[in-house]
Amino acid sequence: MASLLMPAAMASTHAAAFTRSRPWSEAEFAELLDNRLTFVVGDERCFALIRVIVDEAELLTIATHPDHQRQGLARAVMTDWQAQAAQRGAVTAFLEVAADNRQACHLYAVSGYSICGNRPAYYPRQDGTAVDAQMMRRALPTAN
Ligand SMILES: CC(C)(COP(=O)(O)OP(=O)(O)OC[C@H]1O[C@@H](n2cnc3c(N)ncnc32)[C@H](O)[C@@H]1OP(=O)(O)O)[C@@H](O)C(=O)NCCC(=O)NCCS
Repeated sequence: MASLLMPAAMASTHAAAFTRSRPWSEAEFAELLDNRLTFVVGDERCFALIRVIVDEAELLTIATHPDHQRQGLARAVMTDWQAQAAQRGAVTAFLEVAADNRQACHLYAVSGYSICGNRPAYYPRQDGTAVDAQMMRRALPTAN
């Protein structure tokens, strides 16, 4: 089922969850959702935005509002979007994550992702430092 989540709610949850990097604006979410290759899964507590191009899915972002973290919402949203991406024809899923993002790295590991690359000093931090991006991938379950 398609999510009814609106760009304003996505921007609000994103801003609450992403405290160390620039949150995405309502206009940015609206533009991404306007693209037929992207779709959103979840609700205002936790959502993921995904792009599928031919047989590859990319997780563009995932966020759980701090009031609802550690309740299994992101794990469930991961399962849901991967199934929807497979139905759209994706056989492989990719994502990237800041190497020091412990919560997200754990989430992706328990969701079946393995590291497949590294981008040195990819994410700038407000203190002037930069952290590596880890590229991760997994094969998707076959759609029924
Ligand atoms: C990463 C994030 C989406 C996880 O959302 P969540 O709904 O709290 O995650 P879940 O409750 O579904 O937890 C799933 C798994 O993630 C990992 N995890 C989540 N929070 C964690 C924490 N505080 N410390 C360590 N591992 C954590 C665990 O492996 C957990 O499984 P477990 O509970 O069985 O141990 C959330 O912390 C968030 O929004 N962070 C800020 C935004 C962000 O970093 N997004 C990812 C960018 S790549």
